[in-house]
Amino acid sequence: MSEAARADAPPEILVSSGNPGKLREIQAILDDLPLRFCALDRFPAIRFPEEGAEYEPNAIAKAQVAAGESGLIAVADDSGLEVEALSWGPGPLSARFGGPGLDDRGRLKALLDAIRDVPETQRRARFVCVAAMATPAGEVVVVRGECAGRMLEAPVGEGGFGYDPAFRPDGYDVSMGQLSAEIKNHISHRARAFRALAAALARAATAFPGQAGQSEDQ
Ligand code: IMP
Repeated sequence: MSEAARADAPPEILVSSGNPGKLREIQAILDDLPLRFCALDRFPAIRFPEEGAEYEPNAIAKAQVAAGESGLIAVADDSGLEVEALSWGPGPLSARFGGPGLDDRGRLKALLDAIRDVPETQRRARFVCVAAMATPAGEVVVVRGECAGRMLEAPVGEGGFGYDPAFRPDGYDVSMGQLSAEIKNHISHRARAFRALAAALARAATAFPGQAGQSEDQ
């Protein structure tokens, strides 16, 4: 990229997630900001610490390590599903529910099996997302978004990812997996968190424009 094109290019934000579903959603949610989002696979050498059992430190660590190693502003989230009948778990441990070796579909089945006999009145649930932005200069901003709903008895729909097909958001009579990406990206926990991060992100990007095409030059 030429110097002139580099100066004109919108600041680049690194999305610190290996989950392509999340990257797509974050891009769509922040679509109106004059930013470009790049994926973590641009920086294959970045290593992250083991995740713990709380959203905030997990999200902050993912954003801080990515910003520190890449030299770009980075965003990350840590999210999970909280189910009343599971004492509002698994929460930050949602990605590991059911034990090692399961994929999204296997985890969803394990969770639905665990609440199989729970009556409709006790199937309240919510998705939670804690989103963090970190700059290479050390600034960190953390926000939280939630989406309340209920667990269905069986998955329906192919949209979204993870637990979406078995979660019916309040105010809708279909599962999150049946909603269009447009609607999910309006009402979801991730939408609420990243919209709350938008102003800080726009301000940081103006103060610290990322270097477009940086990795190609390394
Ligand atoms: P992490 O935030 O990448 O650690 O993983 C969160 C876990 O919750 C994963 O198992 C995801 O499948 C699940 N999860 C997070 N966000 C969503 C969502 O928007 N829909 C469905 N499942 C989600």
